Amino acid sequence: MRHLIDSTDLTLEETGKIIDLALDIINNREAYSHVCEGKKLATLFYEPSTRTRLSFTAAMMELGGNVLGFSDAGTSSVSKGETVADTVRVVSAFADIIAMRHYKEGAPKVASLFSRVPVINAGDGGHAHPTQTLTDLLSIRRELGHLDNLTIGLCGDLKYGRTVHSLIKAMKRYPGNKFVLISPAELRLPDYIKNILPSNYTEVETLEEAMPQLDVLYMTRVQQERFEDKAEYERLKDSFILDVEKMALAPEKMIVLHPLPRVNEISTDVDADPRAAYFRQVENGKFVRMALIYTLLHHDRLTEEKERPLHPTTCRCSNTKCITATEPVERLTYVTDAGGERCAYCDHLLEK
Ligand code: NCD
Repeated sequence: MRHLIDSTDLTLEETGKIIDLALDIINNREAYSHVCEGKKLATLFYEPSTRTRLSFTAAMMELGGNVLGFSDAGTSSVSKGETVADTVRVVSAFADIIAMRHYKEGAPKVASLFSRVPVINAGDGGHAHPTQTLTDLLSIRRELGHLDNLTIGLCGDLKYGRTVHSLIKAMKRYPGNKFVLISPAELRLPDYIKNILPSNYTEVETLEEAMPQLDVLYMTRVQQERFEDKAEYERLKDSFILDVEKMALAPEKMIVLHPLPRVNEISTDVDADPRAAYFRQVENGKFVRMALIYTLLHHDRLTEEKERPLHPTTCRCSNTKCITATEPVERLTYVTDAGGERCAYCDHLLEK
């Protein structure tokens, strides 16, 4: 059994196969309309979502399967104080596969340790969002034809933007990709992602500087819900606004992606530009989730799992938003390539 908790849980080859399968589904919709008949997807959403939950639901329905679950933790046993571990033990008796979104970082990892069925991380706090990454990869493949040798500009909230973290991890595995980071100083990438960036990344302070060199511009929303200081959000929320004037500086073939929802960061005038790919990107999310669900339910399509070795530890995670701060799970750690020790649930440093 395999789970998708982090965008690198799938090998490069497996990721390529899922994208190819999504492309085949796009061209042969009818052929896949019964392949998950009799199977059930549980969507456990502890945090608001429109497109991700509906996209999972539509994906399972188009495969001929059924969907159950909740979209508001307030209406589930969570409000009675149930742990993620117990909820998942129960749900895995009813469903064949689970998609979980949670405001606590590392919650889907906990779920995967207690589940009897595959668990998909549908977004955990400000940490990771691997199915958005599959959506982004399919979008880049369809729009530009390849996933290597690209210059990708990431703009906005790189600190709390989980889609950015997962996308960097995935795109750095393809040869020749370069990253341009465009964010206010306060919203720079967390160190656990910066540490894995290839050395050829650049950081700039304005969109104008970045635009001429980009193949992909990945815009993100400033993540209001993650700010402890609301005044700081108000100060930073309009740091970058993509408009028609700035688009005039971009190459003719550059594409603009955005995981959505958009707030203010892309002016609506840009929508008519053929390079604005964000509404095409949404539909790709459904197709790639169809490919993912089908693959995890037919795991002979995947190679043998080679999990990163995890070790028990007595050290605490330094991240107050980590699931280990509130749920009594075994503390686990892994050793990074640079030799440091990080929390196996949320990737933050451990406190000695
Ligand atoms: C993103 C998310 O939830 O992280 N949305 C999505 O899944 N499409 C981006 C965001 O909320 O800004």
